[in-house]
Amino acid sequence: MTNFKNQYVPSIGLGTYNMSSEEAEFTTFHALKHGYRHIDTATVYRNEDGVAEGLKTFLNDSDLKREDIFITTKLWPGGLVKVDRIKDYTGTVKSFEKSLMRLNLDYIDLYLIHSPHGKNKRIEQWRALVDLKEAGKIKYIGVSNWGINHLSELKENNLPMPDANQIELHPWSQKPELVKFLRDQNIDIIAYSSLVPLSTWRHKDGENSKKTNEMHEIGLSENSPFKELAKKYGVTEAQFLLKWAVQNNYAVLPKSINIERIKQNFEINFLIDQSDMEYITTLDKGDSITWEYGDPLKIK
Ligand SMILES: NC(=O)c1ccc[n+]([C@@H]2O[C@H](COP(=O)([O-])OP(=O)(O)OC[C@H]3O[C@@H](n4cnc5c(N)ncnc54)[C@H](OP(=O)(O)O)[C@@H]3O)[C@@H](O)[C@H]2O)c1
Repeated sequence: MTNFKNQYVPSIGLGTYNMSSEEAEFTTFHALKHGYRHIDTATVYRNEDGVAEGLKTFLNDSDLKREDIFITTKLWPGGLVKVDRIKDYTGTVKSFEKSLMRLNLDYIDLYLIHSPHGKNKRIEQWRALVDLKEAGKIKYIGVSNWGINHLSELKENNLPMPDANQIELHPWSQKPELVKFLRDQNIDIIAYSSLVPLSTWRHKDGENSKKTNEMHEIGLSENSPFKELAKKYGVTEAQFLLKWAVQNNYAVLPKSINIERIKQNFEINFLIDQSDMEYITTLDKGDSITWEYGDPLKIK
């Protein structure tokens, strides 16, 4: 274990991918009510307005203030497919302003470039984020799905490194080289899709990813060792997977539209033995598996 600690990001946040605006409103409200202080959304999730409503209702009836809640949203950089126009500096600022409006906020806590698909405009996009931070409209700026090669471009251009990188991380995709790089650079690590090994992960129609289907077909989820490990600690498999991440000092963003699960995912007050942590290190199967169009870390 290193002494690395996330510096900016609360350790458990609510993920909102695959939620409608109505679901995002409902879950944001209930998650905040239950003690969550971080909500993760994105322009492409098309539910920032729902998050805004949930937050507003919560704050209206609470002693807490806007500053007590940490809101993350993301720039869609463009470039995923041919017709998806890549955003330049101005396009990035405009897109940020629209997110701010939909979220009904006057600043964002953490604004991320969602992926490295912006290719030769990545630097322009990053410069826009740096300027928005300087203007006080964003507290922390970061990236998501950026690998060592993408982050190194910032260094080569004498630009500040991100405050955080949000990446797919779970026992089957542990990315030790990237994690070490991020720790060495003091970049906060936010893990997404922590629950991939669950056999029921994104099992509803329209939710799945191509590669997850393949993993389920070869039975990896069903033969998961995490059921037994969870039993040993008297917790659920989901709680065990989330604790593994938090014990590694990654922030997590479990997504659920179910109130009981939202509560459960927040209750991870136990410790995994060092020997079990070491055993899990041996279960790494390599690359990310959640993106349907291929692993964004591999974008040139
Ligand atoms: N930056 C990126 O590129 C990126 C990519 C993916 C995700 N993310 C972020 O990370 C968040 C989390 O990732 P994710 O949505 O892929 O998946 P996740 O949180 O790992 O898993 C969500 C799935 O697990 C189920 N689930 C949640 N809690 C459970 C529990 N306690 N027991 C059993 N099943 C449970 C959910 O179903 P129900 O909803 O039916 O409970 C859903 O099918 C996203 O919502 C998003 O905010 C970011």
